[in-house]
Amino acid sequence: MSDSWVLDVPGGCFSNRGGVLHVDDVSVPDLVGRFGSPLYVMSENRIRHNFKRLHGAFSRLTPFRLYYAVKANTNLAVLGVLRQEGAFADCSCPAEIYEASLAGFGPEKILYTGNYNSTEEVRYAQAAGVTINFDDAALLGKLEGGRVPETVCFRINPGMAKGGKEGLIFAGPDAKFGSPEEVAARGYAEAKKLGAKRFGIHMMTGSNVLDPKYFPAATSALMDIAGRISKKVGMEFEFVNVGGGFGVPYSPKERELPIEGVASSVVEAFRQKVEQYGMSRPLLAAEPGRFLVADSAVLASTVCHVKSSSKTFVGVDAGMNTLLRPALYNAYHPVLVANRLGERDDQVANICGQVCENTDVLARDRGLPRVKEGDIIAIFNAGAYGFAMSSQYNNRPRAAEVLVNGSDAQVIRRREGFSDLVQGVSVPARLLT
Ligand SMILES: Cc1ncc(COP(=O)(O)O)c(C=O)c1O
Repeated sequence: MSDSWVLDVPGGCFSNRGGVLHVDDVSVPDLVGRFGSPLYVMSENRIRHNFKRLHGAFSRLTPFRLYYAVKANTNLAVLGVLRQEGAFADCSCPAEIYEASLAGFGPEKILYTGNYNSTEEVRYAQAAGVTINFDDAALLGKLEGGRVPETVCFRINPGMAKGGKEGLIFAGPDAKFGSPEEVAARGYAEAKKLGAKRFGIHMMTGSNVLDPKYFPAATSALMDIAGRISKKVGMEFEFVNVGGGFGVPYSPKERELPIEGVASSVVEAFRQKVEQYGMSRPLLAAEPGRFLVADSAVLASTVCHVKSSSKTFVGVDAGMNTLLRPALYNAYHPVLVANRLGERDDQVANICGQVCENTDVLARDRGLPRVKEGDIIAIFNAGAYGFAMSSQYNNRPRAAEVLVNGSDAQVIRRREGFSDLVQGVSVPARLLT
């Protein structure tokens, strides 16, 4: 099945102009000519569109806060776009707190959700004045001077989970994340005793979920826990964060998540439980990453060599070092030849990178036109967990990133060179002779 469906996504940023892939008004092969290969190309407008769509779907129904999960794409320019739209920031580690602060998010707009945090990490977040979402009640003991922040939140493991094909499951009996209800209840009671005044509750149970029914079911489960804890401990929740996990279609067989329907069913479940437990109308929050940025980017790479062997292998200058998801999860990413759109697929090939691992395959058994050296392969849905998971493995400098807005294209991360591979390395003097 052809991947050309990515050009027809409603409100999408990609188009076929005369057989050439464009992002907004800019030709992808031209960008590769200007900025080199491999190249992450992102559309600012698509990120804004995704934010408005998701935020609008919830906020027209209830007071709502949208945290962007910084880990999905940490580029400061991306953070800047989402800050301008009104996002808050969900940070998973001190470095993300640092990055979000650099991008202009004040501490009041940052939620820190770590897991297995060291004392230093807890204290970094405490000193930064951000809201800490504790993964375990015992983490309260790591706070500097036993001082509990005014606002305390716990990540709950509600006992249910769902993830996409990649198996991205973050809750349930075997998950390392979150606290069971009794542990969290103890944590809230202790925080209250120590002087905490405001409380939040949180879950993040899985990623890339395309089943719309899952979200209201998980919300109900979290709200039951919130309702019971609130009665038991004698406190009110100011906010309820239902996490991220909103999926995007990667393969032609997958259907788009109807986010407006998801929002209305989540808000309905939320309201019903607010009434059932007589809660004083907490704020609803969510913290998506993928949904906001995944389909805003392509990874453009250049064909280096085509080999006819047991099958046809199209070797490109990107690989598992540039986009790890196919090697890590066997994830499907749509692929098109950016300078030959609309040409007939007359071969089936594997697209692979140059890393010395046989798992270094970006796409398997795909229909392609008969490509040659120098053609540009575009790998779609590369905006989330793309660059963020990239590495220098096999001594490959990291790719550059470009942000497109209409006909404007700017480098938002420079391409690494060989010197970046030895950055920070030092050699004892005795080895220099
Ligand atoms: C705590 C937390 N929040 C939010 C997210 C974002 O998830 P997604 O990109 O599926 O929306 C993640 C992803 O791993 C996460 O671990």
